[in-house]
Amino acid sequence: MFITFEGIDGSGKSTQIYLLANSLTELNFTVKVLREPGGNIVSENIRNLLLHTDDIVEPRCELLLFTAARAQLVSQVIKPALDNGDIVLCDRYIDSSVAYQGYGRQLPIDDINNINAFATAGLVPDATFILDLAPLEASNRADSRFDLTSTSPDRMEKSGNEFFTRARNGYLHIAHMNPERVHVLNARSSIQDLQESIWKVISGLLQRKKQ
Ligand code: ADP
Ligand code: TYD
Repeated sequence: MFITFEGIDGSGKSTQIYLLANSLTELNFTVKVLREPGGNIVSENIRNLLLHTDDIVEPRCELLLFTAARAQLVSQVIKPALDNGDIVLCDRYIDSSVAYQGYGRQLPIDDINNINAFATAGLVPDATFILDLAPLEASNRADSRFDLTSTSPDRMEKSGNEFFTRARNGYLHIAHMNPERVHVLNARSSIQDLQESIWKVISGLLQRKKQ
């Protein structure tokens, strides 16, 4: 089973992935937790290039690098794990490219869908959760995390409120177009309420897989 989490930076994805991974592990499932871009040496190097350069990265280059990292992750890690019967939880996947490079950077959505399909060899998640939050609130959360961890915003996180507003609207459009796969959750709900909503969907999927 392949589950992805989406939402603008600071919306609460890692928090929910951690909780879901624990619940599944307690039930004796083998769980693989991954993040994009990353999860293997090549993709971590691409991540570093994308997030920690001071140079201007052209939108088309940005798209191709994110999707190149995805191609490597799918082929080297996600596909083998799924073939092995593991549950894969991924922090971001194809929808991030549509929301950020499509709606955020305003590249053509059809091209992104085609490039995503090529990069992943057509691998689509069984379910996707979008944690929906206003950009200002998400950046306040992220700011307190920067204070706590003494880190600073990366290149993408410096993209500004208008960019994140477009990305958020992009996510809502993606949900509208993919009602079977994509579940939108109000990220302002409590951590526990979100965890319960996610669990309802996951337990339904597990039941269906058993039958
Ligand atoms: P992301 O992985 O999407 O960037 P995180 O899970 O790291 O987001 O959460 C960002 C910050 O918001 C963290 O400090 C986290 O503790 C806090 N947070 C997560 N979920 C909630 C929530 N439902 N309500 C309030 N704060 C939250
Ligand atoms: P990361 O720190 O993993 O995200 P988060 O702050 O949500 O925990 O950083 C990944 C950044 O890359 C994030 O700003 C979203 C962006 N991104 C894209 O623009 N396109 C993509 O296809 C992916 C996977 C990520």
